[in-house]
Amino acid sequence: MLFIWFLLFSYMVTTSTSLDSLAMGQSIREGDTLVSAGGIIEVGFFSPGNSTRRYLGIWYTNVSPFTVVWVANRNTPLENKSGVLKLNERGILVLLNGTNNTIWKSNISTKAVNKNNPIARPLDTGNFVVRNGEGTNDDNILWQSFDYPGDTTLPGMRLGWNLETGLERTISSWKSVDDPSVGEYSGKIVLRGYPQSFEFQGTRIITRAGSWNGLSTVGNTGPSRETTQKFVLNEKEVYYEYGLRDSSVFCVVTLIPSGKVQTWYWTTQSRNRQLVSTGDRDPCDQYAFCGANGVCNYEGNIPNCECIRGYAPKSTDQWNIEIWSNGCVPRNKSNCKNSYTDGFLKYTNMKIPDTSSSTYNTTMNLEECKNSCIKNCSCTAYASLDIRDGGSGCLLWFNNLVDMRKFSQRGQDLYIRVPASELDHAGHGNMKKKIVEITVGVIIFGLVITACIFMIKNPGAARKLISKHYKIKQKKEDVELPTFNLSVLANATENFSIRNKLGEGGFGPVYKGTLIDGQELAVKRLSKKSGQGLEEFKNEVALIAKLQHRNLVKLLGCCIEGEEKILIYEYMVNKSLDKFVFDETKRNLLDWDKRFNIISGIARGLLYLHQDSRLRIVHRDLKTSNILLDANLDPKISDFGLARLFVGDQVEANTNRVAGTYGYIPPEYAARGHFSMKSDVFGYGVIVLEIVSGKKNREFSDPENNNNLLGHSWRLWTEERTMKLLDEVLEKQCVSSEVIRCIQVGLLCVQQRPEDRPNMSSVVLMLNGDKLLPKPKVPGFYTEIDVTSEANSPSENHKLCSVNELSITSLGAR
Ligand SMILES: *[C@@H]1O[C@H](CO)[C@@H](O)[C@H](O)[C@H]1NC(C)=O
Ligand SMILES: *[C@@H]1O[C@H](CO)[C@@H](O)[C@H](O)[C@H]1NC(C)=O
Ligand SMILES: *[C@@H]1O[C@H](CO)[C@@H](O)[C@H](O)[C@H]1NC(C)=O
Ligand SMILES: *[C@@H]1O[C@H](CO)[C@@H](O)[C@H](O)[C@H]1NC(C)=O
Ligand SMILES: *[C@@H]1O[C@H](CO)[C@@H](O)[C@H](O)[C@H]1NC(C)=O
Ligand SMILES: *[C@@H]1O[C@H](CO)[C@@H](O)[C@H](O)[C@H]1NC(C)=O
Ligand SMILES: *[C@@H]1O[C@H](CO)[C@@H](O)[C@H](O)[C@H]1NC(C)=O
Ligand SMILES: *[C@@H]1O[C@H](CO)[C@@H](O)[C@H](O)[C@H]1NC(C)=O
Ligand SMILES: *[C@@H]1O[C@H](CO)[C@@H](O)[C@H](O)[C@H]1NC(C)=O
Ligand SMILES: *[C@@H]1O[C@H](CO)[C@@H](O)[C@H](O)[C@H]1NC(C)=O
Ligand SMILES: *[C@@H]1O[C@H](CO)[C@@H](O)[C@H](O)[C@H]1NC(C)=O
Ligand SMILES: *[C@@H]1O[C@H](CO)[C@@H](O)[C@H](O)[C@H]1NC(C)=O
Repeated sequence: MLFIWFLLFSYMVTTSTSLDSLAMGQSIREGDTLVSAGGIIEVGFFSPGNSTRRYLGIWYTNVSPFTVVWVANRNTPLENKSGVLKLNERGILVLLNGTNNTIWKSNISTKAVNKNNPIARPLDTGNFVVRNGEGTNDDNILWQSFDYPGDTTLPGMRLGWNLETGLERTISSWKSVDDPSVGEYSGKIVLRGYPQSFEFQGTRIITRAGSWNGLSTVGNTGPSRETTQKFVLNEKEVYYEYGLRDSSVFCVVTLIPSGKVQTWYWTTQSRNRQLVSTGDRDPCDQYAFCGANGVCNYEGNIPNCECIRGYAPKSTDQWNIEIWSNGCVPRNKSNCKNSYTDGFLKYTNMKIPDTSSSTYNTTMNLEECKNSCIKNCSCTAYASLDIRDGGSGCLLWFNNLVDMRKFSQRGQDLYIRVPASELDHAGHGNMKKKIVEITVGVIIFGLVITACIFMIKNPGAARKLISKHYKIKQKKEDVELPTFNLSVLANATENFSIRNKLGEGGFGPVYKGTLIDGQELAVKRLSKKSGQGLEEFKNEVALIAKLQHRNLVKLLGCCIEGEEKILIYEYMVNKSLDKFVFDETKRNLLDWDKRFNIISGIARGLLYLHQDSRLRIVHRDLKTSNILLDANLDPKISDFGLARLFVGDQVEANTNRVAGTYGYIPPEYAARGHFSMKSDVFGYGVIVLEIVSGKKNREFSDPENNNNLLGHSWRLWTEERTMKLLDEVLEKQCVSSEVIRCIQVGLLCVQQRPEDRPNMSSVVLMLNGDKLLPKPKVPGFYTEIDVTSEANSPSENHKLCSVNELSITSLGAR
């Protein structure tokens, strides 16, 4: 026993060595390392994350956290610490396990040469090289790790193709932080057309980093004195490479298991690795987000697609509900007959379309480029190949233009073919929108360099860049919602004075606040009790703040101090919809077009809450007074997500605590506390009927039958006098088919049985389409509602046709 201990001990002590290279026949085992000449790089055995499996890897010495940049046996782990790496007599690196089985080996990527003196050596660049002899030129390289990248690119590494040998260098993510085997995501250069780099998930393109424009890839800034970046395209090779000229700075780019491309940075002085770019993407970074012939822009956190001039959405219905992937098609069949009937529109600051179907010529100038495009009727666009010195070379696109994006300041000029008829009235309206947001972190090749350049130039700025970056990230993801001081809010609202009170919402009063700098806010002071703890509450608020849509009121921040929980929203100058629709004079300000716009806008906002947002929110208190109007009278839904804060996030649930407003809640909710998205649809239907009629469901009672608004609408509908419902101030101005369509949609939404009611995506399609709509059935809560009770809590005097028993336990106080 003692003997074995001794053996083991001496084994550990005597064989733990560090070498600078492996000569033929030499080997290293667990505990041993190979160290590069400058001490920057080590090769040895390690376990990633929490795994106990062993891998042979390359890492940076003394960088915190541990930074592995390459793994040899990523798909074939060693089960325990018995691995041995050996350089055999043929110059091949062989990794053996405890029973001498080959786990991994290097293969010789160059043609067999006379291998009399192979030697394996890690270099300070992070490359692990097997050479034949001590020479340092490229000819004697037998194998190098840079030819087989893992998930990380390093300065000097070439990503792309050696066309002579067919070697393709790609990067691929790990499966997880514990498992370096090949994961879902990869980054590659695709040679078709004009070569460009893409990120794939499996075989699906998820983002296109773009093609080289002489300076960088699309959307990046160019090189600098401190760094190099290049793209080589010739008969032998196609690759990207970046370099750093300051040897005390390190910058690596990693495709992490979730598919993001992250950039890390450290220096010889500070060996703490820092994140430069988190690799977050915005929707416009998604490949072909706008489909064919659509241009994406991302203004104020909202992605938007527009068809290029002369094109129209392929499916207007889908386009209207912001499903853009079907893209756009030419509005008019081209009558191009090799004649010069067409012209070109110049789009500036563009991410140019996918070049995989384009042809290129490096010697043409822009004029020649234009001429060769106009001659060929299937040519749809052209651009300079190289944007340096005013532009040179030529790129021509045929057929569809895919994956375009408009930047505010980067990008390049793109000339899109349009029929002369379109050119005539081609104003500047189309792409005029100002873009404020600048994307960060999508580009696989290029961005990296930009970020690193910045820091090398100005080390002090590094921190600023990083914090700026985090701010952008926060803005995008609202990881941390801005918090306001209670004292500031108290001051802004004059101590929550009644004079500043805007209204009383479902979960507390709302005040108008004015900060010292004049900014106006809507301050919602939540009633004290919520079932949640503080952290949960904060997380929930942060989640809700991420919901962003043009038809939702924006949450700006929150304040949690002591008992106080306050939410701060953007202030809507025109207040709420009910102040217009039900007001004798202001109702005149809402003509039919405005009302229709409001009806559609609410539907889109609600669709987003129900289906498109990450959280799938049921509003539960949808009503006319919760619809706010901005300066253009565009509608914004307010108070969404509050139910979640108080009741939890079930999609469909029964609850004792019923929130909601009488007049907008459906029968199944009032009676059984059963709510779902279809309950919101009911509320929406009521709002639509109120907007069209200008009457309040709760307060209305038709003189003959004592019906509420729903009952009244239903009766007019069945008696085919539907237009009688229309607000009299609108009578002269509107298209009756549109009015009737809206009323019909309203009635479909308030049908008694939840399963009969359409979902919001159908509602949006119905409003905008011209197909025949289904016939509505009887609405819920329609007859003989006793409206004598002014109290907001329901009482037994409410006779309901469809519900015999009311079992509302509590109703949000209004
Ligand atoms: C490893 O396990 C610990 C404790 O179980 C955990 O906190 C940590 O996040 C894990 N790390 C990784 C990289 O999975
Ligand atoms: C590795 O495992 C093998 C068999 O599973 C065992 O014989 C050997 O001793 C182990 N080696 C180490 C270093 O744990
Ligand atoms: C070595 O690898 C072989 C084949 O993969 C396997 O059967 C054997 O168990 C491994 N030995 C050890 C000690 O892991
Ligand atoms: C593996 O190979 C080494 C050297 O060739 C030898 O000493 C050792 O006994 C072998 N181990 C096994 C399990 O075959
Ligand atoms: C090198 O290895 C790869 C896979 O690891 C294989 O596809 C390729 O054929 C090998 N090349 C040679 C020359 O053995
Ligand atoms: C098609 O082009 C003609 C002129 O050539 C124009 O009058 C017409 O409006 C266009 N059609 C559409 C749908 O834009
Ligand atoms: C590029 O264009 C020039 C001028 O039109 C032409 O002479 C040359 O052949 C073209 N090159 C290629 C590769 O098509
Ligand atoms: C137009 O360009 C396409 C694609 O390069 C080519 O296939 C076609 O022959 C060209 N047509 C004419 C008339 O030159
Ligand atoms: C907010 O309150 C904290 C502590 O009460 C104080 O230190 C800070 O200066 C306040 N911030 C503002 C903007 O008033
Ligand atoms: C409170 O508001 C007044 C003006 O209304 C302003 O002069 C003062 O500086 C504010 N105080 C704080 C603490 O915000
Ligand atoms: C708010 O109330 C505090 C004391 O409760 C008082 O000192 C302060 O002047 C009030 N501020 C305003 C703007 O009314
Ligand atoms: C809505 O608000 C804007 C900005 O204050 C104002 O110009 C406009 O007149 C308002 N619209 C109506 C109908 O009140």
